[in-house]
Amino acid sequence: MPDPEKYCMTSLTATISEIADEMRAETDRGQVANYIPPLASVDLGRFGMAIVDAEGGSHTVGDAEEPFSIQSVSKVFGLTLALNAVDAGLWSRVRQEPSGSAFNSIIQLENENGIPRNPFINAGAIVVSDILVSHYGLEDAQNELLGLLRPLSADPDTILIDRDVATQEEETGFRNKALANYMRTFGNIHNAVDETLAFYFHQCALTMSCRQLAEMGTYLMTGGINSRTGERVISTRNAQTVLALMMMCGHYDGSGSFAIRVGLPGKSGVGGGILAVTPGVASVAVWSPGLNTQGNSLLGTRALERLVQHTGWNVF
Ligand code: DON
Repeated sequence: MPDPEKYCMTSLTATISEIADEMRAETDRGQVANYIPPLASVDLGRFGMAIVDAEGGSHTVGDAEEPFSIQSVSKVFGLTLALNAVDAGLWSRVRQEPSGSAFNSIIQLENENGIPRNPFINAGAIVVSDILVSHYGLEDAQNELLGLLRPLSADPDTILIDRDVATQEEETGFRNKALANYMRTFGNIHNAVDETLAFYFHQCALTMSCRQLAEMGTYLMTGGINSRTGERVISTRNAQTVLALMMMCGHYDGSGSFAIRVGLPGKSGVGGGILAVTPGVASVAVWSPGLNTQGNSLLGTRALERLVQHTGWNVF
């Protein structure tokens, strides 16, 4: 394993170009998400990777500037907003444990009083959305989310919510509606289910490029600071909490194998994006739209595995 302290950032562009070449040659690319046309129509051949390092250097390859639907990666940002709003109050409504179940599973809720295992499965992210709608109201919660994210990017105005994706999420989101209604019967959803889900679906519909997603992750690399502005985004303790949850739960029932293969806190989305963070060193985003059976990017995971083999960034 290479020594991460000795890895020279000037080699990064060459390293990720080599990885992109390897990924281009892969024939098993997984399956694109097919529940809504904007995801189903994405070309399986797309691949992008971006890294922002602790000195602010940006390294990109492939389709790193192409916007895509970040989907569940956004759960990291909703959680950040909710921790800022209610801090530890969150943890009576959602737990901090791995689920070992699919991202949209309902099964544990019945025996666990409607309290989701963690904020990254859909049920947990819906509770986080409910907390944000209670705290800010629906419209302001969306503005707060964009207000949290945009200052992290070099081109803030292009961080957008794709309204068409949000509408189609709403039209097809029967499972999410079931989860929200079921949790409401336990008293763990406080607002009208449609309002809570409106926030959730819009959050899932955030669109950005790999380069921008890597920029978003920088506050988790720095212990909670926006390195562009020097402003605090989240407390250091809560940044650590978010990273720990990413490591344990960021890939659902694939989290254990991701932790072993990549060794970085990471969060995936069904759009094929993954955000991974090496604390103090780098924020990495990768996009390959083909998914594995757990709904995580197949080649995105492979590319991150190759990156840590080159750099020694595995935190273990
Ligand atoms: O709510 C859903 O099921 C989707 N909009 C997002 C799920 C997702 O991204 C799971 N991640 N890999």
